[in-house]
Amino acid sequence: MCGIVGCVLKNDKVAPILLDSISKLEYRGYDSIGLATACDGKINLKKDAGKIDEVNSKLNFAEMPGNYGIAHVRWATHGDPSKENSHPHLNSAGTIAVVHNGIIENYLAIKEDLISEGYEFKSDTDTEVIPHLLDKFMKEGLDLEKAVRKVIGVIEGAYALAAICTDEPNKVVATRKDSPLIVGIGEDEYFVASDSPAILKYTNNIAYLDKGDIVILTEDGVTFKDENDKVIKKEIDVLDWSPEMAEKEGYDHFMIKEINEQDVAIRNTLGEKKKIKAIVDDVKGTINRVVFVACGTSYHASLTGKYLIESLVGIPTEVLLASEFKYSAKALNDQTLVIFISQSGETADTLKALDAANEVSKTLAIVNVRGSSATRRADYVIQTQAGPEIGVAATKTYVSQLIAIYLFSALLADDEELLKRLEKVPDYIDEVLKKQGIIREISHLYKRDKDAFFIGRGFSYPIALEGALKLKEISYIHAEGYAAGELKHGPIALIDEHIPVVVVAPPGEDYKKIMSNLQEVKARGADILGIGAKGDKDLIDESDNVFLINPEVDDILAPLVYIVPLQLLSYHVSVIRKLDPDKPKNLAKCVTVE
Ligand code: F6R
Repeated sequence: MCGIVGCVLKNDKVAPILLDSISKLEYRGYDSIGLATACDGKINLKKDAGKIDEVNSKLNFAEMPGNYGIAHVRWATHGDPSKENSHPHLNSAGTIAVVHNGIIENYLAIKEDLISEGYEFKSDTDTEVIPHLLDKFMKEGLDLEKAVRKVIGVIEGAYALAAICTDEPNKVVATRKDSPLIVGIGEDEYFVASDSPAILKYTNNIAYLDKGDIVILTEDGVTFKDENDKVIKKEIDVLDWSPEMAEKEGYDHFMIKEINEQDVAIRNTLGEKKKIKAIVDDVKGTINRVVFVACGTSYHASLTGKYLIESLVGIPTEVLLASEFKYSAKALNDQTLVIFISQSGETADTLKALDAANEVSKTLAIVNVRGSSATRRADYVIQTQAGPEIGVAATKTYVSQLIAIYLFSALLADDEELLKRLEKVPDYIDEVLKKQGIIREISHLYKRDKDAFFIGRGFSYPIALEGALKLKEISYIHAEGYAAGELKHGPIALIDEHIPVVVVAPPGEDYKKIMSNLQEVKARGADILGIGAKGDKDLIDESDNVFLINPEVDDILAPLVYIVPLQLLSYHVSVIRKLDPDKPKNLAKCVTVE
């Protein structure tokens, strides 16, 4: 939800760098963009509603003068996407500019007070209270840093914010609570940003802010202060990510690039086995229940975790949506391991549940973004190694979460055979990727559909759910994922010759039953896309179209491999429908509001 960047340079013009950096955060919000730079005692402001390229071709951000400034991409929460509601927001005199990510829950009361004191508001946003509060506190005699400190004592909610003021040139002051903000320390160039891809091109040296920390960027360097206003030193994390990882590198979209990186993402995450083993050794014998907590795609990875832990280890395992967690929180105890799955590590619902679980249970977070809030709050952390994921739809982070869960479960069960089989998964994915042209062809058949069903059983049920989620979010085709056995208890009433049904049918103990379910929908006229094993003659005969996978991938490994053709299907249908798969409407990559 929104991306922010702040930057101070020693000798250079800041606007082109701000524009480049904020463009890397477009996955966080793409309904408006704005930049504020300052020089000669004046703030220059350009902003408007629209995607970055559209707005930039009108406003030409790069020509803005100044060597320090702030930038913002917006995903609207308060007030529709419009020029007035775009960030940065200014005080009335135009001497202070602010960008903000998050929600200020008590902004209405603050706004009323400020209006009664004569402050005038130009937007419907919650953010605009901040420049006016800064103005008020600076008029009372505080400097920018002290004024920011006072503002965070007044505002409630989740935020990361950055401010500049013409009275204190060459300085950006920033802080965070609950929304992410990292600090980049380059040579004569200093940054704050919502996420590291924004600044990878300029520096790999990253520091992470804790809640209530304030960072002051100047031409001469970076100063950190903790919530008690004490100057502190921060550990520097040197990221081994390259700037190219945040570029499309010849692909049309990030989503297809990231789908094609899944073999590597899995190979790299398999390298975490030793660290995962240490966690397993620590919790083994101390837990009698596992609860997974997550949202969206990460929730689907968690469902696979339930099947794995219950079938391999026999420990009762539940899966909860993070937004529904509080209704079950009372049932936790110190023998429960609560596993939080989140690619961003910043999802507000998930973090709220993590804080509650920390009070009674052992917590483990499986996270892709280094230094993110979840990694700093959980007792144990498994870092997936997918690299930066820019496309809004989770793909390579999903399979990386899955492989981390497989490793954890197999180690917990001492299942050497499964551990060995996991080593071959990158090759199986590679085989699928080599045949992606087949899915591209098949996708043309689905471009005009309004609805679709995805069905699977056991380990394939979460594949069906995830395949349906991908199709609806990227192609805007209404899609339902169903446990195949459940179809006849209601939804089969919807099946007719206009509804395609994707049948996930890997070899394994459920194969015969899923083939019976296929017959049930076929008898109602459905168009069948079968996803099954190479050489599966029955599936080939019964389906209208098929995509076939290496038969060594049985039902247990299927979640890691069978999802790939479904991701490809949603990508190609989206492109054929002339949509933007990287930026689906109304969605943002990191959901920092509850
Ligand atoms: C779908 C998707 C979302 C996320 C969900 C949780 O493609 O990406 O459903 O999975 O918003 O996000 P994280 O994993 O960051 O907690």
